[in-house]
Amino acid sequence: MPSRKTVTRASSSFWMKSLRHLLVLSSLWCLISGYSDKDRAHDLMSRYPLIDGHNDLALKLRILHSNRLSQIDLHNVSKISTDINRLQAGHVQAQMFAVYVLCGAQEKDAVRLTLEQIDVIRRMCTEYQDFELVTSAHELKNSALKHKIACLISVEGGHSIDSSLPALRMYYQLGVRSMALTHTCNTPWAESSSKLYNVYQRQNNSLTDFGKAVVEEMNRLGMIVDLSHTSWDTALATIKHSKAPVIFSHSSSFSICNHNRNVPDWLLQDLKKKRGLIMVNLHSNFISCRTEANISHVADHFDHIKKVIGAESIGIGGDFEGAVSFPQGLEDVSKYPALIQELLQRKWTENELADVLRRNFLRVFEEVERVRDQLSMKRPSEAQISLEEVKNPCRLVLRPPDLRSPSNQSPFSRAQQGPKGLLMLPIVVLLSSLLMTE
Ligand SMILES: *[C@@H]1O[C@H](CO)[C@@H](O)[C@H](O)[C@H]1NC(C)=O
Ligand SMILES: *[C@@H]1O[C@H](CO)[C@@H](O)[C@H](O)[C@H]1NC(C)=O
Ligand SMILES: *[C@@H]1O[C@H](CO)[C@@H](O)[C@H](O)[C@H]1NC(C)=O
Ligand SMILES: [Zn+2]
Repeated sequence: MPSRKTVTRASSSFWMKSLRHLLVLSSLWCLISGYSDKDRAHDLMSRYPLIDGHNDLALKLRILHSNRLSQIDLHNVSKISTDINRLQAGHVQAQMFAVYVLCGAQEKDAVRLTLEQIDVIRRMCTEYQDFELVTSAHELKNSALKHKIACLISVEGGHSIDSSLPALRMYYQLGVRSMALTHTCNTPWAESSSKLYNVYQRQNNSLTDFGKAVVEEMNRLGMIVDLSHTSWDTALATIKHSKAPVIFSHSSSFSICNHNRNVPDWLLQDLKKKRGLIMVNLHSNFISCRTEANISHVADHFDHIKKVIGAESIGIGGDFEGAVSFPQGLEDVSKYPALIQELLQRKWTENELADVLRRNFLRVFEEVERVRDQLSMKRPSEAQISLEEVKNPCRLVLRPPDLRSPSNQSPFSRAQQGPKGLLMLPIVVLLSSLLMTE
């Protein structure tokens, strides 16, 4: 007969063992469930690979390499967060690449710089087999079947069109399918969320008549109107005026982080009414309102926006290369699966996440194309901005030369009544001689 002491010791060792087994089992379970969430995220993303709303790779190509693609291999680029290898690792199937031109170029060489940035995106997306330049929702879906990374071109800032609808149309011809109405500067016709540049301050700022003509022309062309960077007034006026759904390609929730680049709940309601989309920006400053952030902070934005307008109105617009600090665990474009894993852990359904990853964007793009088709009888807009509205000393008006009148002998005249530039003289002489050769 075993002594009482032995029994106690035996039973205590039994419980200790069970406890140990339990601990081992539970950590194993954690390990397994941890892995399975990670696997689930990757599995989901292979079926519904990401369409990301915003990436400034083209800007980095200019800053670091003067757009000389021959000097680098885009599969693996150092010092930046985006390259083909990492896009593939992150299940990024389509990327809106931003054509960004600094606001300082407004009314200077913004149009030339814009063309050069369109050129470098077109080059990288045609010279690399892993990329494919797409210009329609149909082509975008097809590129997924071919396992290509689809490139969409979006112009970031209305100053790129220099208040010219013909310039806007020519960008469309070059493949541009989206334009943000402003960057950090007001244009003569729309207002920025930023007060960085003291230009085109108006009493009634939201969207001028010419601004409305820009939105109408974008609707007619089938170009997605992007409201990231515009003021809330301009955003609201645009949502009301646009016939097609609009997007915020890289903005987050103002309720969670009160930065003026983010979108307040009342505006989200209007966005939803227009069947639009907010593609959440990952830049730490817009996520935690600090330079440090982590995946939990990012997921808080998704949870909040879902609560306000539903998962069907949400997308992802990372803003890699366009911002300096990114959350811990989301440092480059290969890390998107970690975000999806976090949202799975927060009980987002696979259906909701498939919407967020790509179906919402495709729905918006297709609806923008439907509106274009409905407007196919409409002729190109001939709206012109008045010379009083655009304070541009470089803006010239082409006129036939009138050599009889000494006060107006130039084939061009400045739009603004400014002092005549001496530099203009040789051009004027050359062009008048050209015009006279007939
Ligand atoms: C990328 O290039 C760096 C050097 O620039 C190298 O260390 C690294 O192994 C390369 N990675 C891949 C995946 O090729
Ligand atoms: C501002 O513009 C709107 C729409 O164009 C107009 O209805 C309103 O009267 C204007 N307000 C002022 C103060 O000019
Ligand atoms: C993120 O940071 C917050 C503190 O700001 C912390 O409470 C949270 O646990 C962190 N989440 C992760 C996933 O590290
Ligand atoms: Zn931006």
